[in-house]
Amino acid sequence: SKDPSPDVNPFGMVAAELSTLNGEVCAQLEGKDDDLVGSAQHFFGAGNTREGKRVRPVIVCLMGQAASLAAGLSEEQAAAAYVKHRELAAITEMIHTASLVHDDVLDGADTRRGGSAVHKLFTTKAAVLSGDFLLARASIALAKLAHPQVVKEMAKSLEALVQGEIMQLQSTEEERLSLEYYLTKSYCKTASLMAFSCKSAALLASHPLESSTVVAAEKFGYHFGLAFQVIDDLLDFTGTSDTLGKPGLQDMALGLSTAPVLYGIEEQPELKELVARKFGQPGDVHRACELVLASKGLQRTKELANFHAQAAVDACCSLPVSKQRDGLIQLCHVVLSRSS
Ligand code: FPP
Ligand code: MG
Ligand code: MG
Repeated sequence: SKDPSPDVNPFGMVAAELSTLNGEVCAQLEGKDDDLVGSAQHFFGAGNTREGKRVRPVIVCLMGQAASLAAGLSEEQAAAAYVKHRELAAITEMIHTASLVHDDVLDGADTRRGGSAVHKLFTTKAAVLSGDFLLARASIALAKLAHPQVVKEMAKSLEALVQGEIMQLQSTEEERLSLEYYLTKSYCKTASLMAFSCKSAALLASHPLESSTVVAAEKFGYHFGLAFQVIDDLLDFTGTSDTLGKPGLQDMALGLSTAPVLYGIEEQPELKELVARKFGQPGDVHRACELVLASKGLQRTKELANFHAQAAVDACCSLPVSKQRDGLIQLCHVVLSRSS
């Protein structure tokens, strides 16, 4: 069923794990250079307001526990696996944070999570090195999990993140008009890390590669990630800088055509020209916004997100019933109603 259950709180279910995450990550980011350490720890500092939603750690922890139950691990084995799941959650968040620090350099974005971007607080060079440092320490933690297949899956997610950025930076006119290209790019830049980290969580619960649980975990991350990114692109049209912690209508300003525009084109062909020239002339972004709002673009984008959220629910429904599985299902509803 798709009915949300407000009594299930996926964030509350892993509140203890989330509360120690900052400290655990900061401990892994110690070093000699104050700026390097400070910039890398920026999003992990104690009691800060720059934490973000911590969605990735939540899905990794819940998927890890759900997968351990599916594997029929003893309590002792599950506890040992969960130590690794928590570490994987931290690694995933470190990788995500590294990609955001670099992303703000690439996008020339001044703000992130309601504050200054790392490259504005420090320098561009410091931000590049800071992201590299986060990746380096995440790699050490990954090696310590002593599961070569997990290292491989997580490395694949790094490559996909880079691929997503490249697809976004250098697209042809035809590609910019293609919904398929948009979805592949969205998978690479957002869903891949969720898919590979969920897959890794199942592997750490002793499931063999190609097993139905590993496939289901990856599928969950894939569809959940797509729903998450499609909603992000919707919020770029409907959100305000107040709710988003970053300015709205940024995508078109960067020349990017996302789902609302791509659907809008079908009813408002004038949009095609604007997409082709990457909204580059004065007034283009404003005009495109009017055209999208006059179309069913936003509604159809919501439907696309609904489709992927439901597919994510279906994927985790192949796991045995558990409270963690309910948490993952609830997250699929939360992702659709989020405003930040
Ligand atoms: C945010 O997208 C960006 C990402 C989710 C991925 C960024 C990836 C890289 C910079 C490649 C390098 C990867 C590593 C591992 C260092 P966005 O710009 O659409 O969203 P925003 O509005 O939050 O900025
Ligand atoms: Mg960006
Ligand atoms: Mg970007």
